[in-house]
Amino acid sequence: MTIIPLDSLHIRPAQTSDKAPILTFCQHTWDDEADYIPDVWDVWFADPTDHILVADCNGQPVGMTRLVQLSDTEGWWEALRVDRAFRLQGTGHQLTQAALSLSQSLGLTTLRTCVSVTNASMHPFMQHQGFSPLGDYTVYYAAANEGAPTALRLLGGDDCDRAWAAINSFVAEERDRLFVARGAKWQSLTPANLAQRLAQGWVWGSFEGDTLISLFIRSYMESPDGTLWIGWLGGTASGIQAALDDMRHLAHQLGFKAIGGFLPQSEPLTTVLKTTDYDFFDTSVYKLYEKLLSD
Ligand SMILES: CC(C)(COP(=O)(O)OP(=O)(O)OC[C@H]1O[C@@H](n2cnc3c(N)ncnc32)[C@H](O)[C@@H]1OP(=O)(O)O)[C@@H](O)C(=O)NCCC(=O)NCCS
Repeated sequence: MTIIPLDSLHIRPAQTSDKAPILTFCQHTWDDEADYIPDVWDVWFADPTDHILVADCNGQPVGMTRLVQLSDTEGWWEALRVDRAFRLQGTGHQLTQAALSLSQSLGLTTLRTCVSVTNASMHPFMQHQGFSPLGDYTVYYAAANEGAPTALRLLGGDDCDRAWAAINSFVAEERDRLFVARGAKWQSLTPANLAQRLAQGWVWGSFEGDTLISLFIRSYMESPDGTLWIGWLGGTASGIQAALDDMRHLAHQLGFKAIGGFLPQSEPLTTVLKTTDYDFFDTSVYKLYEKLLSD
């Protein structure tokens, strides 16, 4: 690999002309798999909550990263990329510092990101940057199943209080109250954003009598691929079992060919998943990180 020295580098917001050179170096991000940046660049560039930062070396884009504001206080940091020819000269570090400064100037108090467990060099880097690991999440998926859902019932705005109470009875620790708000971006679940999902018709529950025994919140990907995306799933062991089985029917009913999403490696979910037809790749395990930003 040829190393090109960086004599002048600055970080700036992305501009229209960055697309072609960035997508060109992103063809070589990984040794053995394709990068997803080309699939999402146009959506990201048009998104008003989005901040794409570019490392510019004498007018040439040599790196990028993205910060998304999810709420007044929570941000998501992702897509740190440096052109292979310019790596190991501090560009990744500078992009990270720029994302952290921008987060603070936006008034964010919590920044999260996730890193594949196979991306070995990134984990020490995350800890040096002051991020703490919250837990591991695995992408599970199953094909949609013909037939209508029998256990899951669509919840509405009137169900907000009991749905919120059920969520709180299902969560064992604070990180269980995080949900995948969109794509792979984790955010705190609050009564307000639960109410918003209920109003969208994106929350289903399964019941034992009048008691909610599991709850499923839908999410979405930034580059849809025909999968019904899981935003949050919790419940008792039997409730989760019923929901997982029925989510395959729900996916079919809603016109998706599969159901999938990031699920925490926590109980009772992990044990129940072993008894289902849901699958996962060993390479699809991600560590979620969080950094609290002081003012
Ligand atoms: C990760 C990446 C952005 C780093 O860019 P870079 O410009 O080479 O990074 P820097 O030179 O600023 O180094 C940043 C830190 O990572 C470490 N690092 C970077 N690449 C490394 C490697 N291959 N092996 C070991 N450590 C490495 C550096 O030692 C440095 O650590 P420190 O600041 O704690 O001392 C770049 O390698 C890349 O684009 N990789 C592919 C995409 C990727 O993995 N993105 C992160 C997804 S979460």
